Amino acid sequence: MTRASLDKQPDEVAAMFDGVASRYDLVNDVLSLGQARLWRREVARAVAARAGERVLDLAAGTGTSSVAFGAAGATVVPCDFSLGMLREGKRRHPELPLTAGDATRLPFADGVFDAVTISFGLRNVHDPDAALRELLRVTRPGGRVLVCEFSRPTWAPFRTVYTEYLMRALPPVARAVSSNPDAYVYLAESIRAWPDQAGLAARLQRAGWSGVAWRNLTGGIVAMHRGTKRG
Ligand SMILES: C[S@@+](CC[C@H](N)C(=O)[O-])C[C@H]1O[C@@H](n2cnc3c(N)ncnc32)[C@H](O)[C@@H]1O
Repeated sequence: MTRASLDKQPDEVAAMFDGVASRYDLVNDVLSLGQARLWRREVARAVAARAGERVLDLAAGTGTSSVAFGAAGATVVPCDFSLGMLREGKRRHPELPLTAGDATRLPFADGVFDAVTISFGLRNVHDPDAALRELLRVTRPGGRVLVCEFSRPTWAPFRTVYTEYLMRALPPVARAVSSNPDAYVYLAESIRAWPDQAGLAARLQRAGWSGVAWRNLTGGIVAMHRGTKRG
C-alpha cells in the first residue's frame, strides 16, 4: 500500500501517512519551499490561543502543527488516526498529549474545547462534512474553528503556473526526497479535487458554523477559514 485513492478510504489514508511519518516534516518543508513554516505561524496567530484555553488540533499528524498553540499557555490536544504519525509525534514531542481518534467520530465529550483547528487534514478525511459537524459538537458555545487547507490561487496567470508546478514538478521532486513518492501524486490530485475558498466556506456554514470568513495565504495556495459556534 503506497497511496490513498481519491475516495479516501480511511484505512488507505492512515496507512499512507504511517508510511511517510518519519520524513513527513522534512518533505513538507522542501516541497512547500519553506512556506509551510509561514503557514503554521499564521494559523497559530489566527487561532490566538490564550492561557488556560483548551485547543483541539485535529489531524495533527506528528504534532508539528500543535506546538505553536501551546506557546501562550493554552492546553493543546493533538488528535490523529495514523498511529505511525502519532508514534513519530510522541518521539519528537513527548510532552504533547497525542490522542488517537477519527475525525468523523471524535473521542471527546460535547463542548470541551475553546478552539478547534485542523491544518492540511480536512482534505484527507473520508467524510469532511461529518468532521466539520464533529468539530462543532466538541466546541463550547462561543468557541471558534480554524481550518487551514490548500485552496485556489486567486490570480489566474499564477494559478496556471501553480497547477503546472503541482502536476508536473511535485511527483519528480517527491521521488528525490520522499520515502513514498506516490503519496505526493495523491497530494497533487487531492488538492485539485478540493473545493475553492467559497466552496469550503459554504460547507462550514452547512455544518452549523456561523460568522464564516477566510483569509488567503501565499496568493491563495492556502486559505484559512474561520467560524464560531453560536453561543
Ligand atoms: C497532511 S497531514 C497534516 C498533519 C499536520 N496537521 C500538519 O499540519 O503537518 C494529514 C493528517 O490527517 C490525518 N487524517 C486523515 N484522515 C483522518 C481522520 N479521518 N481522522 C483523523 N486523522 C485523519 C492523517 O493521518 C495525517 O496525519
